Amino acid sequence: MTTDSAARPPLDKARLGSGNPELMPDLTVEVVDSLGSTNAEVIRRALEGAPDGLVVVADHQTGGRGRLDRTWESPAGTSVTFSILLRPTTPTRAWPWLPLLTGYAIDKAIRASGLEAGVKWPNDVLVGDKKVAGILVERVETPQGPAAVVGVGINVSLTADELPVPTATSLELELGRPVDRTDVLVESLNAIREAVDAWELGGDDSGMRLHSSYAAACVTVGQDVRVDLPDGSVLEGRATEIDPAGQLVVESDGRRTFVSAGDVVHVRAV
Ligand code: BTN
Repeated sequence: MTTDSAARPPLDKARLGSGNPELMPDLTVEVVDSLGSTNAEVIRRALEGAPDGLVVVADHQTGGRGRLDRTWESPAGTSVTFSILLRPTTPTRAWPWLPLLTGYAIDKAIRASGLEAGVKWPNDVLVGDKKVAGILVERVETPQGPAAVVGVGINVSLTADELPVPTATSLELELGRPVDRTDVLVESLNAIREAVDAWELGGDDSGMRLHSSYAAACVTVGQDVRVDLPDGSVLEGRATEIDPAGQLVVESDGRRTFVSAGDVVHVRAV
């Protein structure tokens, strides 16, 4: 795959304006040529009172933040990096579903490009056993009430040499053809908006529906896993299910552990 910069055009800002019927309503997209972290920027804007649906896209993100204090970096013109501000009406006790819901939505957007994608719990999107997209959801207390900043990074045209780690991949590497970043962005924004709207409107049933859709997309279930837990301990066992609260259930030595946060490695498929 070429790394010629002419083959890596900027995002098509005209397609991201609010008048574009391709884009779902209730999204206001701002595209910035270069930015440290879109999550940091949207958190700042949330504190200033920005409304639900604000999206900040960095054509090139230079200081992206990842989960568990990691970084998220990619060469200019190779990725889709954005954050959405959400001010959900859903009770905050249900918000732990937001990262999973976003993983499910991005999985759906990537499948639309023709790839067999899946979600590694809680929300890495994989193609085969390689990571193609990462999600960081941060809660922020604002004068208008609690808000969620949903940040998404998708590897679109990185070459094998440009991948940050050997366990990552990009859409172009998997598809073997050029992929338009603006297409991926529009598809992803719409998928997230649709999933969030359904979750918010669905009342009591929406948790159940989301649970079954997410569980079906989650490729961690059925695998032997190693989980690095937030307290520094390590859990090894078989991931058997996603519980109704979105937790990963891991069985080892006849015991079931309900994991609500952690870093999962798929040890091997069974
Ligand atoms: C991870 O897998 O560790 C999560 C990565 C999340 C990266 C995205 S890129 C856009 C948004 N802005 C950030 O600073 N991080 C997220």
